[in-house]
Amino acid sequence: MAQTIRSRIEAATKKLKKHGQDHLMRFADQLDPEQKMMLLDDIEKLDLELIDSLIAEYVLDEPEHTLPKEIGPAPVYTVPAPAALAPKYQQACEHGERLIAEHKVAVFTVAGGMGTRLDFDGPKGNFPATPVRNKVLFRVFAESIIATQRRYNCVVPWYIMTSAANHKETVDIFKRNNYFGLPSENVMHFPQGMMPCFDRTGKMLLAEPYSLASSPDGHGGSLRALYINGALQDMAARGIEYISYFQVDNPLVQVVDPLFIGLHALDSAEMSSKAVVKCDPLEKVGNFTLADGHMTVIEYSDLPDELARKRDENGRLMIEWGSIAIHIINRSFVERLNKRGFSLPWHRAIKKVPYIDESGNLIEPEKPNAIKLETFVFDALPLADHSIILEIDRADQFAPIKNASGVDSLQSSHKLQIERAARWLEAAGVDVPRKPNGDIDAQIEISPLFALDADELARKRAQLRPLKPGDIVYLG
Ligand code: UD1
Repeated sequence: MAQTIRSRIEAATKKLKKHGQDHLMRFADQLDPEQKMMLLDDIEKLDLELIDSLIAEYVLDEPEHTLPKEIGPAPVYTVPAPAALAPKYQQACEHGERLIAEHKVAVFTVAGGMGTRLDFDGPKGNFPATPVRNKVLFRVFAESIIATQRRYNCVVPWYIMTSAANHKETVDIFKRNNYFGLPSENVMHFPQGMMPCFDRTGKMLLAEPYSLASSPDGHGGSLRALYINGALQDMAARGIEYISYFQVDNPLVQVVDPLFIGLHALDSAEMSSKAVVKCDPLEKVGNFTLADGHMTVIEYSDLPDELARKRDENGRLMIEWGSIAIHIINRSFVERLNKRGFSLPWHRAIKKVPYIDESGNLIEPEKPNAIKLETFVFDALPLADHSIILEIDRADQFAPIKNASGVDSLQSSHKLQIERAARWLEAAGVDVPRKPNGDIDAQIEISPLFALDADELARKRAQLRPLKPGDIVYLG
């Protein structure tokens, strides 16, 4: 055993030396056997050839984001349906419902991010998100899945991508909560890949004398993680053809949308997206464009202000559609990418990453000191044979919780959740009290188990009572 570890250390040191990274073994002699194994496990997993090329391209150099030569507006299915397309929308809705009822649709949540902006300890899916019952995000999604299964008398399996940093805790949360009411065999957790963090000279950093500093490889990593963790095989065995993808941060997400799935399937698309009209040309969302003929998202940080503000002769923004990170992805598309081999472009971010210095001290940097590399799932859009975009009503489906305060915070999300509930009640004929400034004068929460949409709520009109100012109402 000792001999094996010694020879593994020698081999690792030799390999690292060849790539100028042997400082990672600096403390190896002082580690206990278990720690030595941990360090070796980290190092033996590294693809040092790939890492060398990433360092040259993204760490030592800051690649300039080159914009596509021809950028034009992306075609979008708008809502409500334009008159000429009303029959198609109707047909798509029915087709989508059929696909759901035939168990061909799975839900996929990416929940591997670190959630640092939210200042919340633990997996973001465990963040209390709703205005009355403080239900955590995972519970909100689970209730939507249960309600969808009841409506269509089907099974909608749920795949959840975690990361090394939160996998165990996420699984424990599901176990402690009895999988939020879902059968455990229909919920699968799997971790995404990790990427080492680099200092500005391209050296990998140690988080401990026995482990590398690393971070999740971005939600683009989900396309590989679905494959290598057996999720795609599981989907194939269940007959799943369509993956309904969304981020963990949006409690108003419609986890499975028949119209979206139907339009995507009728148009033989491989990866499609939902979009909103941006509320500001510089809103911090991805931007849909048709770039050199391919559906493409340009992240807000890569879009020059001048282009973001450009308008056509009618005064409309050239790039007016923002991504809310909701996609339908064909299982066969993800399989094809993985079988043929694919790579997504890397994006670099400079962040504060604590590290162990040469003397073995833990340094907590005050300024960003390290480079993290990530891939983005929307960079797979140009690889799809065909892709559609469906507009959605932002107020109805988008209330993300990303920041501790201000824009996209719990406070703004609560307001949007309450406003949506109020609109649904008003549409059902229930009076909702408002303050003089128009704000809703009540706390309202509607569980997806009570109503998945406004129409379902209207059908329950007989169970609804009028609201008084200051009421706290939970419909569940
Ligand atoms: C994201 C999109 C942006 C979109 C906006 C809509 C990116 C880079 N940008 O911005 O185009 O308009 O949402 O709300 O994504 N995640 C992982 N693993 C990772 C990294 C992230 O699972 O390695 C998950 C997070 O858990 C989260 C989601 O991806 O659910 C979003 O990641 P985040 O980095 O917070 O992106 P945003 O800035 O919110």
